[in-house]
Amino acid sequence: MQVILPGNWRTLTDIRGDSVTEADGGTHSSRTWLEVDLSAVVHNYRRAVELASGSAVWPVVKADGYGLGAVEISSRLAAEGADGFCVATVEEGIALRQGGVTQPVVVMAGFFPGQERLLARWNLHTFLFRLSDAKRLTSALAEDDRVGVFVKVDTGMARLGCVFEEGVAILEALENSNRVTVMGITSHLACADALDNPETRRQVDRFRRFLQHPVVKGHRLRNSLANSAGVMGWPESHFDWVRPGIMLYGGSPFFPDLLAAEAGLKPVVTWRSRVVQIQPMPPLMPLGYGHAFTPKRPSRIAWLGVGYGDGYSRRLGNRARVVADGARLPVVGRVCMDLTAVDVTDHPEVRVGSTACLLGSERMASVDIEELALLLDTIPYEIICDIGGRVERHYVG
Ligand SMILES: Cc1ncc(COP(=O)(O)O)c(C=O)c1O
Repeated sequence: MQVILPGNWRTLTDIRGDSVTEADGGTHSSRTWLEVDLSAVVHNYRRAVELASGSAVWPVVKADGYGLGAVEISSRLAAEGADGFCVATVEEGIALRQGGVTQPVVVMAGFFPGQERLLARWNLHTFLFRLSDAKRLTSALAEDDRVGVFVKVDTGMARLGCVFEEGVAILEALENSNRVTVMGITSHLACADALDNPETRRQVDRFRRFLQHPVVKGHRLRNSLANSAGVMGWPESHFDWVRPGIMLYGGSPFFPDLLAAEAGLKPVVTWRSRVVQIQPMPPLMPLGYGHAFTPKRPSRIAWLGVGYGDGYSRRLGNRARVVADGARLPVVGRVCMDLTAVDVTDHPEVRVGSTACLLGSERMASVDIEELALLLDTIPYEIICDIGGRVERHYVG
């Protein structure tokens, strides 16, 4: 019997011309998930240690470890001997403590009024870049509270960093405090991702000049300037401890001029999604929102259970590729909030329940974060940070 559907031109035989059988369930029941390869993170961390040649290494795990899981990554790197960890906010520092991280943790973006005693309670260091914050911290802390601070000066980033005079004034104001201890001086590099930019050397010189100030020299301090680009490309920026972030997660800070693989970094993330529906398509029958894709031949479309609600950008529609059945297959039509269509016409092995990689490799085919960054006109940082909270994180390696 032929069932006529509303609209009258699509029959069940049109739509179900293909048999829809389930592929093997696999080990995850989720619609989309990340596999974070902790052994690759360790490899990249060891590369940072090697390049830092003697400087301490404090991995940057802000924004939940660039989206990949701050507690899991910190716990693994703590076991590898990481000297401390850097987060952006007090809340992120507390999350690390609650997750069992016992190494030193520093809050790089400062604290808000009312958070002073949390720093002491959770044993968090902080960057300090305002004299008024130094005063507020000393007066808000109780007799037994102890907080270590790193004074952050501006050497050219013009973001969070005080002018040198204010840096000196902070050191003087904290001189006799038994509650607040100045542990070091920090600053941040603005242009280190461009190896031909002379600004980095100028920033290093300005930082050195500040360290030579008599008031600064009078302290025993542990100073820090370098991010990943500094670690990898500017040995003169290493000082006592370095703060690598993106390189640990398999991203090159020099993208697109130097790719991660060329820099000896290993990819960390595989992002998978499961096929929730196979849609057979006759030629010229349009697909999805806006009918933004129309196949020219009889086609099989796999709808993956992932979309922009998971951080898979809508701008990837009709542009990106995913890996399924060991091949790079095109994303077709518009990416929806929860679903994304892929043309699997030439891959009958792809069925309901099969998995595809939005990021990662399978057999000889791969899609890496650099490819998505190029398509989206952004940097690898944003690709991984944007992967949504709805995507389960699984840890391997
Ligand atoms: C102050 C500071 N230090 C270090 C880093 C780590 O930078 P990257 O991920 O480029 O290594 C960041 C990140 O933006 C930062 O804000």
